[in-house]
Amino acid sequence: MYSLHGKVALVTGAASGIGRATAQMLARQGMRVVVADVQDALGAETVALITRAGGEASFVHVDLSEPGSPHAMIDAAVQRYGGLDLLHNNAAILRTHDTFDPQGEEQWRLMLEINLNAVYGGCRAAVPAMRRRGGGVIINTASMAALTPYGDSMAYAAAKGGVLALSRSMAPLLAPENIRVHALCPAGVQTAILQHSTARATAARAVRGVLAPEDIGRAVVYLAQHDEVEPLIMILRRGDSGKPEYIRVGAYAEEHISGIA
Ligand SMILES: NC(=O)c1ccc[n+]([C@@H]2O[C@H](COP(=O)([O-])OP(=O)(O)OC[C@H]3O[C@@H](n4cnc5c(N)ncnc54)[C@H](O)[C@@H]3O)[C@@H](O)[C@H]2O)c1
Repeated sequence: MYSLHGKVALVTGAASGIGRATAQMLARQGMRVVVADVQDALGAETVALITRAGGEASFVHVDLSEPGSPHAMIDAAVQRYGGLDLLHNNAAILRTHDTFDPQGEEQWRLMLEINLNAVYGGCRAAVPAMRRRGGGVIINTASMAALTPYGDSMAYAAAKGGVLALSRSMAPLLAPENIRVHALCPAGVQTAILQHSTARATAARAVRGVLAPEDIGRAVVYLAQHDEVEPLIMILRRGDSGKPEYIRVGAYAEEHISGIA
């Protein structure tokens, strides 16, 4: 197992929910953690939680809806701690709609910018810093919305599908440089983002049950510590037993269609 002690992590969306839990858990492993978020007060709170528990962390303000912001964020982290070993691209927004029509162009662009373009931007900026360290790990938070029909927000699903495809395509390109790329596809997790859910999605989750942010943090710590783990797409969901389940997504399924050619 790979020791994380003294290594540097940057977690986006770490002012809240999954990002905050993950930042705390990485700090508990001895990592120096950069908490990156648009919410300054809550970001400072995450830093305080970490430092009060004896860990090391600092806050970087970033608004990932602004093109160029991922580069500035990574530069700030590298300046602060002298390098970067782990990037958890985790920040996202959710805006839902009940029918095909009401989601306007502006919301579409905003969700694609924060939820997908900023993930790519973060990777682009982080890779040179990781090369200088001789390797690293990138863990992108996608969603089950990338794998199953998600009528509550087409833009959110499209962005998360993009994160998944991007992670899959980056992984073999970066593996020879000792940079591992993984994507996580959580089902419902009890966080602030769910306040934007439709009533339909909330009702479905009430039946299935939700995960805790720490359940996702555990997967991030596992992937960071196991440098022998192959690039993987991981589903996280609550199983029938009530316990969290971590599932590898295998090859896509194929079936021949007869009667066309
Ligand atoms: N909660 C769920 O059910 C669920 C399920 C699947 C995937 N996810 C994904 O998990 C990740 C974390 O979300 P969460 O559930 O912890 O929600 P959350 O709302 O608690 O956290 C999202 C964080 O992203 C930050 N953020 C939003 N816009 C930003 C911007 N422009 N610039 C910088 N930071 C910004 C927010 O301030 C917040 O701290 C997201 O990628 C989300 O899509 C969540």
